Amino acid sequence: MHIHKLEKIWLAFGIAMLIVFLVVLGVSTFSMGMAPPSHSHAIDPEQVDTTPPFDQPGLKQVGENEYEAVMIAYVFGYKPNDLVVPVGATVHFTVTSPDVVHGFAIPNTNVNMMIVPGEVSHITHTFDEPGEYLVLCNEYCGGGHEFMKTVITVQ
Ligand code: CUA
Repeated sequence: MHIHKLEKIWLAFGIAMLIVFLVVLGVSTFSMGMAPPSHSHAIDPEQVDTTPPFDQPGLKQVGENEYEAVMIAYVFGYKPNDLVVPVGATVHFTVTSPDVVHGFAIPNTNVNMMIVPGEVSHITHTFDEPGEYLVLCNEYCGGGHEFMKTVITVQ
C-alpha cells in the first residue's frame, strides 16, 4: 500500500524534525546558561580590590575640572569615604560592588544608580554648587544598610 508507506515516511520525518528541534533548543538553552545575554560581567566581584581601576579607588583628574571618581560600594560603606572635588567639577563616577547589590544616590541630583556585583556602573554629574553632598545606599543590603553613606565635599 503506497499510502501506508508514505505515512510512515512522513511520521519518521516528523519525529526526526522534533528531535532536531529539541537538540537545538537544548543546546541554545545550555549555551545561554553559560553566557547570559546582555549581562556582561565586566568585573569579577571577588577580585575588585586587585582589578584596575578599583585597586586604587579615588579621584583622578581626566580634564580641566573634570574627574573620574572610582568608588567601591560595600557592606556597609563607600570607598573612598571622603571625596573632595572643586566647585564646577564634572565627575564621572565609576562604581562597583564586591558583595551585594547596593545603591548610589545623591539626593537632589541626577545621580541614582543600582550597583550590582560583577558589573561596573557609570554616571556623570557636574557639581555647580559648593557644599556637602550625601551619597546614600537606596537598595536594602543588610543590617547596616541604613548606615551606608558617605559625603562628597564640593569646595
Ligand atoms: Cu548598601 Cu543598602
